[in-house]
Amino acid sequence: MNNSKIFRMVRIFLVSIWLMFLLQPAAQSEQVNLVERGKYLTTAGGCISCHTDTKKKGKPFAGGAPIKTPFGTFVAPNITPSNEHGIGRWSDADFIQAMRKGKNPAGEHYFPVFPYTSYTQMTISDLKAMKAYLFSLTPVEAAADDHSIPFPFRLRFLQSVWKVFFFREGEYTADPKRTVETNRGAYLANALAHCGECHTPRNIFGGLDYDRWMAGTANGPEGGAIPNITPHTDTGLAWSEAEIVDYLKTGATPDFDFAGSLMADVIADNTSKMSDADLRAIAMYLRQLPPIENAF
Ligand code: HEC
Ligand code: HEC
Repeated sequence: MNNSKIFRMVRIFLVSIWLMFLLQPAAQSEQVNLVERGKYLTTAGGCISCHTDTKKKGKPFAGGAPIKTPFGTFVAPNITPSNEHGIGRWSDADFIQAMRKGKNPAGEHYFPVFPYTSYTQMTISDLKAMKAYLFSLTPVEAAADDHSIPFPFRLRFLQSVWKVFFFREGEYTADPKRTVETNRGAYLANALAHCGECHTPRNIFGGLDYDRWMAGTANGPEGGAIPNITPHTDTGLAWSEAEIVDYLKTGATPDFDFAGSLMADVIADNTSKMSDADLRAIAMYLRQLPPIENAF
């Protein structure tokens, strides 16, 4: 090797080191931004409400309290990055498949108590941010309890039949008839905050009635009634945009009452932590829904 070749190699080496120093802080701050964005999305998604057993003072995302349904009792699993008990070994693709297709890494179907039926509408980039946030948490080395589901409902393959009839898979596509803000509101309400999972009536198989979106139901998730929040004058929500924003932020209703039951958790864990602009977008989305008459 002659001198000039050695000189050239040393120069390439030095320039590479210099570039590494230059780029590393940028990569780090990009990661910090991704995790921050993921944290906001995870809050907006209300994941903590199901995946944390607050009554038993469980650690965040380490597994939830039992959820009773007509099909059995479900427990939301540990979704911290524990290799043993959580999702620590999952790739981005595994996470995206779980959230968008309702399938675990082995290809088995999830039960729709896990509202993947809503999260399917999330964008890949938001899902990656959400996973980056979950993976930034301290792993919790403890398993959540098992589900307790009677036969035959516990058979996961039966869910494939359910999915054919009741699962509408796919990312949210902006509706050109809606403004940018209203589209954002629709995305937040449907892909993330899954308002429709409670506020939309279901058929006897637990499938969402998409034709009566947000029209309320007498049989909500815990058996109680859930109000109609379409803008139907007599049976729905006749609140102004500001009143809806106020309610989602503080729980106070226009008639000086307070949100109770499941909605109190939604507000505490989820909507009270969202930005004013995002709450306004959700309110705009609700106010332009087709009004549906549904009194019960
Ligand atoms: C209404 C309750 C509920 C909410 C809200 C919820 N989950 Fe879950 N989640 C569940 C249940 C129940 C399961 C178990 C489903 C099963 O076993 O078929 C589950 C399963 C999962 C799994 C699969 C874990 C595994 O080990 O296979 C992941 C990942 C997950 N949820 C992530 C999330 C994220 C992220 C959010 C928020 C964007 C969220 N969940 C919100 C109830 C919920
Ligand atoms: C886990 C189930 C659940 C989810 C998810 C949920 N809600 Fe509710 N919501 C309820 C229940 C239950 C009530 C009745 C509260 C009460 O009795 O005080 C309610 C009440 C409301 C009301 C008041 C209606 C009235 O006439 O008093 C509004 C507005 C509302 N929800 C909007 C939303 C929006 C927007 C979302 C999504 C960001 C959402 N909800 C998500 C269960 C839910």
